[in-house]
Amino acid sequence: MPSPLASKWTRVFVFLLCLVPLGILVFRALTANLGANPVEFIQHATGDWTLRFLVITLCITPFRKLLKLPDLIRFRRMLGLFAFFYACLHFLTYLGPDQSFDLAAMWKDVAKRPFITMGFAAFVLLIPLAITSTAGWIRRLGGRRWQMLHRLIYISAICGVIHYYWLVKSAVLRPLTYAAIVAILLLWRLGDWLIRRDRTIAAPAETQRAPANS
Ligand code: HEM
Repeated sequence: MPSPLASKWTRVFVFLLCLVPLGILVFRALTANLGANPVEFIQHATGDWTLRFLVITLCITPFRKLLKLPDLIRFRRMLGLFAFFYACLHFLTYLGPDQSFDLAAMWKDVAKRPFITMGFAAFVLLIPLAITSTAGWIRRLGGRRWQMLHRLIYISAICGVIHYYWLVKSAVLRPLTYAAIVAILLLWRLGDWLIRRDRTIAAPAETQRAPANS
């Protein structure tokens, strides 16, 4: 029986699910339910969802391997693009209401406030990933170079966590929780890479020994 994860409808369902945070924001805006400071509310919600989507995207490979669910890979691109989508909304709420679309003022602020510098770095790193997320770009770059480039998502997630940690004054539990999750995911990757590297080194040695043993 084909896995439900391979179904087109599961993809449609996940796509709609990813739009729920936006739907809630739009609904709250339409019903004037964004609190005393609507811009701040949207800024915080979109910042939170950017980080959540980054982490969820990073979970795909370990979950795919550990749970033996190869079809999970079909959702990675969509989830990564949703991280970028919410990052764009987050950045726009800063560039528009905060900086009145004044790019010179924005650059000054990016240079002056370290937490903004870090958020900006996290955002900029996602741009090449979003651009090269298509099958055409995988072909053009070649699988290996494409994979190397897409490791930037880890740096982006680390910058995103530091951005969050630096902006909160005292409630550090949430940014530290994200930091722990990103660290675990990174360490898992490192472990997985080391195991695969050892196997590749061991494989030719085994092949060389084989004729002598047989
Ligand atoms: C991948 C990129 C980014 C991630 C993951 C991210 C994440 C976050 C998070 C989690 C928050 C806090 C939300 C909360 O308090 O619940 C936040 C707030 C904020 N972010 Fe970002 N952010 C990113 C990019 C940016 C960029 C590019 C800018 C502007 C250049 C920016 C400016 C802000 C501002 C102004 C706040 C609110 C700060 C305050 O409350 O004083 N962020 N962001």
